[in-house]
Amino acid sequence: MNLIRSKIISSGSFLPEKIITNYDLEKSIDTTNQWIVERTGIEKRHIALNNQLTSDLASKASINALEYVAFNPADIEMIIVATTTPDLTFPATATIVQQKIGAVNAFAFDVQAVCSGFVYALSIADNFIKSGQVKNALVIGAETLSRIIDWQDRNSCVLFGDGAGALLLQANNKDNSGDDSGIIASSLNSDGRLNDILKTTGGVSKNQQTGFIEMAGKEVFKHAVEKMSKSVLSVLEKANLKTSDIDLLIPHQANIRILNAVMQKLNLPQEKAIITVADHANTSAASIPLAFDFANRHNKIKKNDIIVLEALGGGLTWGSILLRW
Ligand code: ACO
Repeated sequence: MNLIRSKIISSGSFLPEKIITNYDLEKSIDTTNQWIVERTGIEKRHIALNNQLTSDLASKASINALEYVAFNPADIEMIIVATTTPDLTFPATATIVQQKIGAVNAFAFDVQAVCSGFVYALSIADNFIKSGQVKNALVIGAETLSRIIDWQDRNSCVLFGDGAGALLLQANNKDNSGDDSGIIASSLNSDGRLNDILKTTGGVSKNQQTGFIEMAGKEVFKHAVEKMSKSVLSVLEKANLKTSDIDLLIPHQANIRILNAVMQKLNLPQEKAIITVADHANTSAASIPLAFDFANRHNKIKKNDIIVLEALGGGLTWGSILLRW
């Protein structure tokens, strides 16, 4: 039996200073604040300036997490950045973050699973820690989605924003410490047959362009509710727990109606979910760590709480993580 758990010892986040409200969007496209709030729950989004890159947002979130617990960057062993909007085609944004925060002794790489990227990255880090290969890991979700949004397409531009969040994990030998906290189970899925319903119109190999986000909103909505609910049930089963054991759900922040529908399907009261989508819109891989950091710093998490993280994104990819705080 594996006695090592990956324990989250800190969190951090960063949202760029520039804000675009729904009222600002009313001036540039045919939309209304009321439509956006009713259909999505989003009130505003933060947008990176031209000289603010994904690695800058990621570095600021990381430093925020490291300073919270006075952790020396030179002690970090592994850095994973989940992102769909890297600074460059290569090198990996994680290596740029490594340089910017002075994590000179880490190895670093990116993970691309779009909005599920953070859940995938956390699960990878957990496996490195559980296998004893590293003693700690910095897992970051960071995006400048504003760079791949067609700001004239009202179907998509109202939904997304920029931001970054980071979690710092450390190996916890629960036998020695008597502390049972850390990641208990994860469940990851993908179905490439559905890659057409949520994608960009460009890419390095296809047309040497970044392209814009394009999606079949209703289809994505349907799959999101069904697959994220099933994913939560699957991770609960792996941990031998029931829905009623969940103290806190920290979902990917895409749309309030998706979040509410998942809560309803799982028969969970809304107060068990952390919901931050109104303040920063859908920030893809950054949304879970942003919501996590909000919960952590606003004392929404109590010792021993069972927390479930869940996401769905392009691919389609989806997954959940279950942990004890
Ligand atoms: N402002 C005003 N009207 C709009 C806007 C807008 N910004 N966008 C679309 N409309 C119009 C449409 O053109 C349509 O008009 P029509 O009836 O004249 O054709 C009308 O509003 C209704 O559009 P629907 O597509 O039926 O609206 P729906 O209720 O499905 O909501 C939405 C659209 C919000 C995109 C929804 O489908 C959704 O949330 N889908 C999930 C998408 C998502 O969250 N993707 C993120 C990536 S995936 C993930 O992170 C989980």
